[in-house]
Amino acid sequence: MTRRVAILISGGGSNMVALVDSMTGDHPARPCLVLANSADAGGLAKAAERGVPTAVVDHRPYKGDRPAFETALQAELDKAGADILCLAGFMRILTEGFVRRWQGRMLNIHPSLLPKYPGLNTHARALDAGDTQAGCTVHKVIPDLDAGPILGQATVSIRPGDTPDTLAARVLAQEHILYPAVLHRFAMGDRAPLIIDARDTPK
Ligand code: GRF
Repeated sequence: MTRRVAILISGGGSNMVALVDSMTGDHPARPCLVLANSADAGGLAKAAERGVPTAVVDHRPYKGDRPAFETALQAELDKAGADILCLAGFMRILTEGFVRRWQGRMLNIHPSLLPKYPGLNTHARALDAGDTQAGCTVHKVIPDLDAGPILGQATVSIRPGDTPDTLAARVLAQEHILYPAVLHRFAMGDRAPLIIDARDTPK
């Protein structure tokens, strides 16, 4: 049975595009909805160009009432018949109730090698710590932020002279490879972590 994937975004949606573009041919899943929490999310137009239904549930009118915001999100997900949820740069914290409802069926991509650097500013934190490598993680979502069983990780080298921006660009390129690959395996029922080593080879 074809799995129906809803993708939640807040911004440009480059990971969303990578996911949507991967779900073709004999892939076991298809995108059924791209949902943003702001009409300004640049990814909405990219989803529409690709023929994927879009919806906006603006979080602002729900200020102070996350459960009400999530009821509106859930209504859109129900309408679309989603059975897998991919968070792709979705910048809202979800309540335990919502997460429990989707637990085991909701994935997130995070731009660090979890469990290192949950939260924001991951690239600056890796550089400040003097790390020699960085990367990204796809994990199942649990109520704790940026935690949950790891489904895949890609590692890149940190190079001399890297800034948060140069490192972010190198990691993002791997996000676009890792997330589709993990989603494909996940939709097939494979939960074994996928490890991608994209570090520089020593000269
Ligand atoms: C990515 O780095 C993702 O890991 C992070 O937010 C960024 C989203 O980028 N959570 P995009 O919207 O997919 O281009």
